[in-house]
Amino acid sequence: MITPDLSGKEFKLFQDFILENSGIFLDINREDSLRISLFSRITAKGFRDYYEYYSFLRYDALGEEEFKELLSLITINETYFFRNPSHFKFLKEYILTPLISERALYGKGIKIWSAGCSTGEEPYSMAITILEVFGFYKNLNIEILATDVSLKALDKAKKGIYSLHSLKLIDEKIKNKYFVPVDKNRFKLKDKVKEIVKFEYFNLIKEPYPLIEMGGWDIIFCRNVTIYFKIESIIRVIHNFYNSLKNDGYFFIGYAETLQQISSEFLPFKWNDIFIYKKEMRDLSLEEKDVNEKETGITEKKIERKSFNKAILSRGLYSKAMKFFEQKDFSQALRKVREVLEIDPQMAEAHFLAGKIHADSHRFVEAVESCQWAIQLVPLFLAAHFFLGVVYDKMGQPQEAINEFRKVIYIDGDFGLAYFNIARIYQLQGEDEKSLKEYTNAIKIFQKSSSEKALEFSEEITSELLIQTCRQNIERIKGFINKKNE
Ligand SMILES: C[S@@+](CC[C@H](N)C(=O)[O-])C[C@H]1O[C@@H](n2cnc3c(N)ncnc32)[C@H](O)[C@@H]1O
Repeated sequence: MITPDLSGKEFKLFQDFILENSGIFLDINREDSLRISLFSRITAKGFRDYYEYYSFLRYDALGEEEFKELLSLITINETYFFRNPSHFKFLKEYILTPLISERALYGKGIKIWSAGCSTGEEPYSMAITILEVFGFYKNLNIEILATDVSLKALDKAKKGIYSLHSLKLIDEKIKNKYFVPVDKNRFKLKDKVKEIVKFEYFNLIKEPYPLIEMGGWDIIFCRNVTIYFKIESIIRVIHNFYNSLKNDGYFFIGYAETLQQISSEFLPFKWNDIFIYKKEMRDLSLEEKDVNEKETGITEKKIERKSFNKAILSRGLYSKAMKFFEQKDFSQALRKVREVLEIDPQMAEAHFLAGKIHADSHRFVEAVESCQWAIQLVPLFLAAHFFLGVVYDKMGQPQEAINEFRKVIYIDGDFGLAYFNIARIYQLQGEDEKSLKEYTNAIKIFQKSSSEKALEFSEEITSELLIQTCRQNIERIKGFINKKNE
């Protein structure tokens, strides 16, 4: 017969079992919550007492599945969107954008792992960050795997419905863009975010780790997960993450966590109030490393730190240039962009920004040249193609403009403004049939909810207004055709 009390011996038995099989160490303060969790599972499954339940977990073929149910009750799943905002800021500005640019260029793809994702807020914050950087996801070849041991948390994550608590750090604009209200207190994530993340059960204390055989991950987040582990388990898990990362891969831990005394394998960098960890390059043999040190006096670690610092510096300058641009101080913005490009001539967004500055200052030839640089570096740079189309249009080069808008559609078939602009150019050229077709395509896209991304490029104009404009132009063209046929 099960008694509500858990004896010291019984507590120890489960404490050891849970530690061994999940890494989670339940100290004596968790005794009460463990008792409640065990009681709930034991009564649900009809076991007689703690010992019978323990034997089932340890020895029965179905014990592993039952342990997952127990873990769902034991784990602490506290999380929220954009927890530790600096992590997402760094991810966006210093890793994702340059990394995506490079991957987009070489088509290698990006693999991100949110380990211990709980109810999904962390991986979905990554997905939103990606959409904020690019405005679209299709064709980017990015994968986000999110894993956890709590089946209950994973279930909730897949549903994607969140309370205001989870959204407490999200501003109104992002909330309206990526969520739809379910009721007063709950919001459902839109499919375009959900489709980016794949959820799976994975216990970090069990090897082998995902992708370890296949070259590994570019970015791993494992935040606020190992805080419940004992030091031996943390060391093992962190070493496994190290092995699972690609060379140059990034590793994120929680604000309150440290790798001191745990791992000396990673290269730590301080940025604002956070530490970010990088996997060191390992492609030089020890002998080569020695020679390198003797000849140059610079260790491999220092070389990497130097190039990383260069990236930090150039992205910092780029942010300043962006601010000047937003304040419409074009000469200061251009000065800063030039400083960026001196440090990093390969930064596609800096070329693009230069293009926008030139265009705003009516230097269209220079604007074209800068956009073309950006596109040469990142062929799928949607915003640069679109903007180049606009510039060509302003320069009175309609065919070149259409070509660029077609490339935008090739990258993202749901980009309504590209259809709209093509339609408008055809209309001006008197190509009535072609224009009608493109306006009709544009209306279809503006009617879809995902059209907000295109609207970002049209500043104050709403989709309703664009639809109305398309319809008016269609009427005008039809009237014109009828008159011609009379
Ligand atoms: C506090 S949440 C952290 C969520 C998110 N990473 C964040 O920082 O907001 C910790 C998560 O780690 C998960 N976890 C605990 N032990 C784990 C293990 N051995 N393997 C995988 N996940 C584990 C828990 O289920 C829980 O959802």
